[in-house]
Amino acid sequence: MQDEIQVHDKIFVPYLTQEEIESAVKKVAEKINSDYANECPLFIAILNGSFMFAAELFKHIRLSSEICFIKLASYKGTTSSGHVITSIGLDTDVISKHVIILEDILDTGRTLSRFLPQIEHQQPKSLKIAALLHKPEATVHEVPLDYNCFKIPNKFVIGYGLDYNGLGRNIPSVYQLKED
Ligand code: IMP
Ligand code: MG
Repeated sequence: MQDEIQVHDKIFVPYLTQEEIESAVKKVAEKINSDYANECPLFIAILNGSFMFAAELFKHIRLSSEICFIKLASYKGTTSSGHVITSIGLDTDVISKHVIILEDILDTGRTLSRFLPQIEHQQPKSLKIAALLHKPEATVHEVPLDYNCFKIPNKFVIGYGLDYNGLGRNIPSVYQLKED
């Protein structure tokens, strides 16, 4: 792991190693394997950030299960109701399925708090959320987090799928923004 890396104009320092991440992801996968024994859950991974987490977790899932990938788009409304979150690519039936949402990071909770009602509307049998990272201090919209690998401080991070202005997703570990 490099000591410091520069992405665009910012310097980042090592925070979580690839080994730490992979072992935490495996533990969550094993918990899901036991919680959903004899069930056939549908994983819904939210792009772009969750692709690496989803791939690593899914390798350790021993259940008969489905996975699909969606993108969320938000639009500025003309009314004061603000943003509407729309799922792009949710082409799989959710009704009567055990759904597990896969997210890279739960930050303010805004995205998920607006998206979850859309999924609930489609009447899944159950709905749970798994996030690689969670910034509890940043939470504005409470979202029930059922599975989480790491709680982290409210500092910007990159790597393992997470980006800073489009770059850094390919880094196999997690780096944190360096303090000035
Ligand atoms: P929310 O604030 O919980 O709605 O977070 C929405 C999205 O912001 C996450 O899925 C990430 O893609 C992105 N995000 C939040 N915090 C960070 C960070 O520290 N680094 C990179 N992306 C982040
Ligand atoms: Mg992002």
